[in-house]
Amino acid sequence: MATQVTVPAVRARKRSAGDPLVMVTAYDAPGARIADEAGVDMILVGDSLAMVVLGYEDTLQVTTDDMAHHVAAVARAKPRPLIVGDLPWLSYHVSVEDTVRNAATLIRAGAQSVKLEGGSKRVPMVEALVDAEIPVMGHIGLTPQSVNVFGGFKVQGKGEDAARQLVADAEALAEAGCFAIVLECVPDAVARMVTEAVPVPTIGIGAGPWCDGQVLVFHDLLGFEDRIQPKFVRRYASLKGEAVAAMAAYANDVRTGRFPSDGESYHLPDDVEAALGLYGSGGASKTA
Ligand code: KIV
Repeated sequence: MATQVTVPAVRARKRSAGDPLVMVTAYDAPGARIADEAGVDMILVGDSLAMVVLGYEDTLQVTTDDMAHHVAAVARAKPRPLIVGDLPWLSYHVSVEDTVRNAATLIRAGAQSVKLEGGSKRVPMVEALVDAEIPVMGHIGLTPQSVNVFGGFKVQGKGEDAARQLVADAEALAEAGCFAIVLECVPDAVARMVTEAVPVPTIGIGAGPWCDGQVLVFHDLLGFEDRIQPKFVRRYASLKGEAVAAMAAYANDVRTGRFPSDGESYHLPDDVEAALGLYGSGGASKTA
């Protein structure tokens, strides 16, 4: 049986030390089983839950309880990949105490680590979490919880100062104890600078090929989401199209009487059917 992926194993996986890390989001038990059987290293129960599962326009709408509900569903599948629970907006912004309590809610729901967004200004929160024995993954670049500050979902770190700030933020997070750092939507050269600057793995999404690992959203990579396709998403399947076709075939079979068939129905024993005076024996046809 394959062994459980652990935080120290991930922390040790700079690209120079082995294959790039593979992370994917999942939000429920079937998704976790798919990720596990596909052999990924980490499952992120992301706050993208808000947009790809719950139908909101941004990630600001989910709460710690929402996240815990989905972390628990993923954890019940007992997957081999490391489970990273995403701390939602306002769960780590009010106070250090609040941050530790909210993170503990995700850990008790089954996460083995948590992720939070933001750079140097999150250092006190990261230090408090690490002090409470909660492993933390950082997340910088396009941090979706900052959508209103950024004025939309825009590539970050394009200017010289912004690029240097990302490097400084990553160094501060690594120094504070983050075991890995997500880099979202930054130019590939900036992701390379950051990756070379920190001793912990960087996990890119829209951050080019130089990161120590990559992450994609479950619904994007499997093609459940077909309304938008950001440049950085590669679709490995078109399951929305397949699902619509399959459901339309089911609807057609029901409407034309082809579903359910005799073989898909339960039958009374012949003697019970006869005693009840039903339809003749054998249950082959209920239309006689
Ligand atoms: O919530 C999420 O899915 C994420 C990834 C995009 C990294 O934070």
